[in-house]
Amino acid sequence: MVRKREIIDEIEDVYRNALEELALIKDADSIENWSRRYLGRKGKINSLFSVFAELSPEEKRQAGARLNEIKNELGNAYEKRKEKSGRKKGDKVSLLFPGKPCEVGYLHPVTIVTRKMTDIFAKMGFGIVTGPEIERDYYNFTALNIPDEHPSKDVWDTFYITEKEKILLRTHTSPVQIRIMEKVKPPLRVVAVGKCFRRDDVDATHSPVFHQMEGLMVDRDIKFSHLKGILTHFITQMFGDNTKVKFTPSFFPFTEPSAEVSMTCNICNGKGCSTCHDTGYIEVLGCGMVHPQVFRNVGYDVSRFTGFAFGMGIERLAIIKFGITDIRYFYQNDLRFIRQFS
Ligand code: PHE
Repeated sequence: MVRKREIIDEIEDVYRNALEELALIKDADSIENWSRRYLGRKGKINSLFSVFAELSPEEKRQAGARLNEIKNELGNAYEKRKEKSGRKKGDKVSLLFPGKPCEVGYLHPVTIVTRKMTDIFAKMGFGIVTGPEIERDYYNFTALNIPDEHPSKDVWDTFYITEKEKILLRTHTSPVQIRIMEKVKPPLRVVAVGKCFRRDDVDATHSPVFHQMEGLMVDRDIKFSHLKGILTHFITQMFGDNTKVKFTPSFFPFTEPSAEVSMTCNICNGKGCSTCHDTGYIEVLGCGMVHPQVFRNVGYDVSRFTGFAFGMGIERLAIIKFGITDIRYFYQNDLRFIRQFS
């Protein structure tokens, strides 16, 4: 009886050791070595069969069945391990063989366009700043001279986080203007880039999350002609020297006068097509001279300083630049789309 216990324990010990050793093996030669030692004709498993002589026929049957089971399992473990190591017996490692290719990532078109935009403005002396995506009502609306009854403040247009303390996901990058002017005295020249959030239903041209770039320049004697010059330079740098730029009167509560800027449609080169609704022009951004009330809100002296601001959607610019037909492609993580632009 005692002898039987010992044999069973020995069988289980050999089994456990065999698996532990196999798990630690790193090269193909050692796998073969292991197989010889455990599963070979003179290996440990076969040698265990020979100690059965002392057992009763019933005990022999039990121990034999277990040993066969273990032999099968170790055999399977050996095959699996060999498959994983990827080398067959006798294979030699070739150091000339190329390594496994590792795919490099691609820049997202929004990143490509953002970098191009910030490069252009950086060369004109603009600093690059950021601001919080979760914003106070004051910075997103009030300080920008947006009245309480303005439709963009509606709960159907803006994602409010807390109604009472008036905290929300910013609907544009313009609050960064206020934050920067509270910190820095003029002259100043900055662009701010980041995510914006609006309660828009998703379709080919709308997404509840998108990116904007905002620009702000304040100094003595800044005029609308400076704004025109800088934006015209930006658009021709972005889309080519032959691009024509058009300023049309518009309205924003935080700029006066305000304008919308359009450029010649790059699909039809201004001839008229379905993208530009046969006008030859596509709208690209909003801009204007900073409203004096905005300056007063941040404590700037309106008798000494003037300035301009502009804001634009980055996806929109990428769509125009690359001829993308649907804004949803940006957010689907489909590499077939992403890898076209690098
Ligand atoms: N904030 C405006 C928008 O989101 C864009 C803008 C910025 C217009 C600065 C004028 C000046 O539509």
